[in-house]
Amino acid sequence: MIMQSEFRPSAVVVGASRGIGRAIAKVAAREHGAVVVLVARSPEGLAAAAAEVRAAGGEAFTLELDLLVADASARLQDFLSANGLFCDVLVNSAGYGLRGSATLLPVEDQLGIIDLNIRALSDLTLRFLPGMAARGRGGVLNLGSIAGFTPGPNMALYYASKAFVRFFSEALHQELRRTGVTVTCVAPGPVSTEFLEKSGAGRAQLFKILPKLDSDYVAERAWRGFKSGRRLVVPGISAKLVALAAALLPSAATLPLIGRLQRRSSDPCPCGSGKTFKECRRLGHRAVTTAGP
Ligand SMILES: NC(=O)c1ccc[n+]([C@@H]2O[C@H](COP(=O)([O-])OP(=O)(O)OC[C@H]3O[C@@H](n4cnc5c(N)ncnc54)[C@H](OP(=O)(O)O)[C@@H]3O)[C@@H](O)[C@H]2O)c1
Repeated sequence: MIMQSEFRPSAVVVGASRGIGRAIAKVAAREHGAVVVLVARSPEGLAAAAAEVRAAGGEAFTLELDLLVADASARLQDFLSANGLFCDVLVNSAGYGLRGSATLLPVEDQLGIIDLNIRALSDLTLRFLPGMAARGRGGVLNLGSIAGFTPGPNMALYYASKAFVRFFSEALHQELRRTGVTVTCVAPGPVSTEFLEKSGAGRAQLFKILPKLDSDYVAERAWRGFKSGRRLVVPGISAKLVALAAALLPSAATLPLIGRLQRRSSDPCPCGSGKTFKECRRLGHRAVTTAGP
């Protein structure tokens, strides 16, 4: 059995099997030097990420874990202890979103956004932060989004979840000032990962207009900002401009604009008639004859 005093520090990256998390894991291996614990569901993605971490000079551990199971954070803690590790740096990159009308998207899929983007991220942060504070070192790097700067019609729960991530992270950053522990929120605009396809966001006009960043670029900026103790990192000029516009413009101006840019005229109408939005608007939503409770 390994004595607790002999436990080694590790950078724990959740959502490490692909995308931004996998890119941050590589940077962590190169910069943090030592041990990177890679967490996600896909064994193939984890194996590929582990090979990249080793190639970058780090030591890799992988844990197949669905963060939506109730005891996920306890299982991660047990895995670290069993391997003689403690969480020195936590990177919360697991997350998903869904584009579409809130009235039509499956309720369980929408609630899953809260469970993963909010609950699991908070659970892991709150589980590992006290140890970091006691040691006076390390920190948490949370993946927010420029979506966290404004409400987002047609991606309502995703935007709201990212506003939570930003507010939660910024508040913790302030609470932990001068303790040696940093909490950073990184808020990118569109990044070329599977997220855009899986969420459906990539098919919306908004994500076509905004330039897409490379996940390696976002990872470098995120890690650099985190290591220099930044509260918020918004990588890239276009994302900074969007964040600034969202801060300056009233919701009365941004809500209709974002709503339009995130809806395709061929999308089903939120009224539930089964017609497209364009067709239904032309008919003045007269098609619905039976309304549920
Ligand atoms: N891509 C963008 O345009 C963009 C922009 C701004 C912010 N973000 C945010 O950045 C973060 C990473 O996004 P990404 O673009 O890298 O997305 P991605 O390519 O879809 O990767 C998501 C990661 O989360 C993991 N994950 C998903 N559900 C999980 C679960 N139930 N349990 C454990 N792991 C789970 C996935 O691994 P498995 O499927 O193997 O479990 C994968 O490693 C997200 O929070 C996203 O909201 C993305």
